[in-house]
Amino acid sequence: MQSSPQAVQNLKAMLETGVFLDPLLVSNFLRNSAQSPVQTVRSLARGLAAQIYTNCMHEETISAEEILDRRPFSPTLLRLCLVETLISTAFAISHEEYGREEPEEASLAAAADKLTELVARIGCGALYDAYFIIAGYDTLQPLYFHKHITEQAFLSGVHHHPYLPENLELFMLVSLATQTLRLKRVGRVRTVQITRLGMQSYLEAKAVMRESGYFDRRVKFAYLYSFDTVEDWDAMCDVVWPNHRQLRIDFLDFLGDLRGKRVLEVACGTGALTFDAKLSERVDETGELVALDMSSGMLDQARRKWKQLGRPSNVTLQLGNVEKMPFSAASFDLCVGAAFLHFVDPVAALREMARTVVTGGIVSVWQGSYFSLDAPFFRDWFEPIFELARRRNAERPQSYMPESGETIVRWFEQAGLRDVVTENASLTWVFDDPETIVQHVVRGVSFFETELMELPWDDRRTIVAELVDRGRDVCARYPLRHRTMYLPMHCIKGVVR
Ligand SMILES: C[S@@+](CC[C@H](N)C(=O)[O-])C[C@H]1O[C@@H](n2cnc3c(N)ncnc32)[C@H](O)[C@@H]1O
Repeated sequence: MQSSPQAVQNLKAMLETGVFLDPLLVSNFLRNSAQSPVQTVRSLARGLAAQIYTNCMHEETISAEEILDRRPFSPTLLRLCLVETLISTAFAISHEEYGREEPEEASLAAAADKLTELVARIGCGALYDAYFIIAGYDTLQPLYFHKHITEQAFLSGVHHHPYLPENLELFMLVSLATQTLRLKRVGRVRTVQITRLGMQSYLEAKAVMRESGYFDRRVKFAYLYSFDTVEDWDAMCDVVWPNHRQLRIDFLDFLGDLRGKRVLEVACGTGALTFDAKLSERVDETGELVALDMSSGMLDQARRKWKQLGRPSNVTLQLGNVEKMPFSAASFDLCVGAAFLHFVDPVAALREMARTVVTGGIVSVWQGSYFSLDAPFFRDWFEPIFELARRRNAERPQSYMPESGETIVRWFEQAGLRDVVTENASLTWVFDDPETIVQHVVRGVSFFETELMELPWDDRRTIVAELVDRGRDVCARYPLRHRTMYLPMHCIKGVVR
């Protein structure tokens, strides 16, 4: 399906300006509107959006050329678009700039500046059009898969979770007006059906979102949210990776004597390295350890361990983004991190890690690289995911792991580190407990996020249940040794210039 070059340009301009419009993210947040911080964010965003709306209408920037003829102009929809753009952009700023969990006043103000800059660059009409593409994609997606659903199911939002019912009502009216959906009575029930134009609009929207890089951005946020909701990460790792604890200890040995050092650990997660593998003890009370992670959910679990250990005063836990950390240059002797490079821009992260370390100090990671997805049991078990990949014309699910240990060494060198050395090991991955494996792969390490993104929300839940069932069958048919994989793991360190 061809994407409109202008629409791709507009979404690219949006991403370049740092504006992120994600109605799914906002709906998820606003679902908790009973909480007062959510209400505050919503009313602040409405105030800021009203100003931008007035400017748009005053300057007549809603020009006819920017909006396709088939899109009706709805002031309510434009206001909704502005509010949602402000909140999701503020989310991104809060996470990435301030290392905070949720939007608040400062990030909303920064989002309003970026949005004003974007509107000056592409026009309000182009922003409105982008909203049609993104919200239109989400609205049409369940219909594209199911072809028709009952009107009641549409309006209640079961197929469109986390979209809010009041917004779905508006989207349904707009979709009926633009003839991408139609109502049809089937027996005694009214159903909503997708039209041929609707199918075409869905595929066009998808092509624009893919080509502009929008999907990648959405996936990156989805990773973060899956970490925020993982509660049993440590227990899952013990079941799935029986030798992970020993390999972490080996990694700490690889780092050498840490006593009395100032150490920064990035992407610390639940503290598997920090506390369970006893990094904090190796630094000992004469040194200092700061452990940082971008997910408050993971960090909460690390904080629990810190409290259990009697709140050691030389260990600090901090919310933050490894690509932009709140520490002055050369504040640490060492900066380390485990199993995170595949979630970030690796060279930018390594460069930032190096910035925080003194000349002659060490930057080091413990990181896995690509493993083949072609083992017969794996293809058999995860066939529904391979099928989703084929719909993208890909042979296998997208792997986000670095290609090899050499790739990581190259990243170290590109980040300016010298005398890079490595030690290799392999992490045993036992596929033996279908429930845990599926939770770990899908929710824990978000391995199939790109593929699952193809599916409406409720179908993702269905596929997870199907994968657990398939897993039971696969475990009965393949001996355990055929269901065991070995993930290449690399201890890598380089010296800061
Ligand atoms: C697979 S977990 C590994 C956690 C821990 N290091 C371990 O070995 O168990 C990846 C962690 O990276 C964190 N993360 C992802 N992107 C990040 C970023 N840009 N800045 C800081 N942490 C990030 C996630 O929140 C998650 O806790």
